[in-house]
Amino acid sequence: MTSFTITPLTDHTGAEVAGIDFTKPVDGETGATLNRAFAEHHVLVMRDQHFAPEQFKDAVQLFGELQPHDKKEHHVPGHPDVSYVSNDEFVNGRRIIPGETFHTDHSNHPRPPKATTLFAVDLPSHGGDTQYVNVHDAYDDLPEGTKQKIDGLKAVHAYLSKYSPRPLGHLSEESRRNLPPPGVHPLVRTHPENGRKALFLNPVRMEAIIGMDDADALKLIGELMAHATQKKYEYRHQWRYGDWVMWDNRSVMHQANPDYDMSERRFLYRLMLKGEVPREHPHHPRRHRHCRHRLYRRQRASQSAMAGDGTAARGAASAGRGAAAAAADRHLDGAGARGHRAQRDPRRARRAGAAQSVRQAAKSGVAASDQCRPQF
Ligand SMILES: [Fe+2]
Repeated sequence: MTSFTITPLTDHTGAEVAGIDFTKPVDGETGATLNRAFAEHHVLVMRDQHFAPEQFKDAVQLFGELQPHDKKEHHVPGHPDVSYVSNDEFVNGRRIIPGETFHTDHSNHPRPPKATTLFAVDLPSHGGDTQYVNVHDAYDDLPEGTKQKIDGLKAVHAYLSKYSPRPLGHLSEESRRNLPPPGVHPLVRTHPENGRKALFLNPVRMEAIIGMDDADALKLIGELMAHATQKKYEYRHQWRYGDWVMWDNRSVMHQANPDYDMSERRFLYRLMLKGEVPREHPHHPRRHRHCRHRLYRRQRASQSAMAGDGTAARGAASAGRGAAAAAADRHLDGAGARGHRAQRDPRRARRAGAAQSVRQAAKSGVAASDQCRPQF
């Protein structure tokens, strides 16, 4: 295993990785350690790197699969897969600084990127920091009443919200044609690796909250943004040459700062990694007993079907509703016994509510995995 260090940068967000040259092969154990550190610290700062565009592309894939950018025409010359951020783009005579208010990248996608990453090529002599705020901690600190109000709400994320606080850079007609339809995502999502809940916000793209009128939705989004962007949740990265920074879009929001001399060039390579469908209660077989049983049954049925066992194959065909109903029964057994305690304890009340929703899902034929409440 490579000798290197991982040093936290704050007590909640960010860690510095030193001692690895990512242009060289990285062994499996080191890769696994770095991926765990990423889920734990949310922002990794890899120091002292020296990348050509293709080397950067290769190194980033240690953490996942590349996700193409929406702006296909916006790439490092000669490297169509490697995007960039710079301070030399103008729209209608106004300089565009990409990301100059807090946001979450590409949240309009059905599967938004799990990570975004930058490598510093040209930096201003002062300023141009990137700020990150921890949206796990921000969610955890909300009053219980607010959590109950927002848990279960879903927001519509368009490419550019009609309520966006800023414009985005130019998008070609071809790129516009290839945009996905607006994403509909939970306002509270659970990280599939660290198991923590998080606020999922992006005023640049959020255009509506389902079931609310726009004025109320904007007010709620504004209140949540004011809460989540407090300094106590922030790690502020001051760029150095050699920095490769990667952040987890499921754990932090970020913003750029146009606070430097614009006659100086700021240019960074930019890549993203594919993510998953954001879920408030993700299916997680290792941590969730009835999901684990369901997965086990599915695997057994699949193995038996391959071996020609007709009984098991029929079992697999009926597993959908059966598993959902069984899951509902298991939830309800517990919920009934806990019923009187739920009246005094809001957490227990929410669990009882979850059991009820699972039973409703079973009746309507919705897969149990869509209704799972993880037990971390
Ligand atoms: Fe961004």
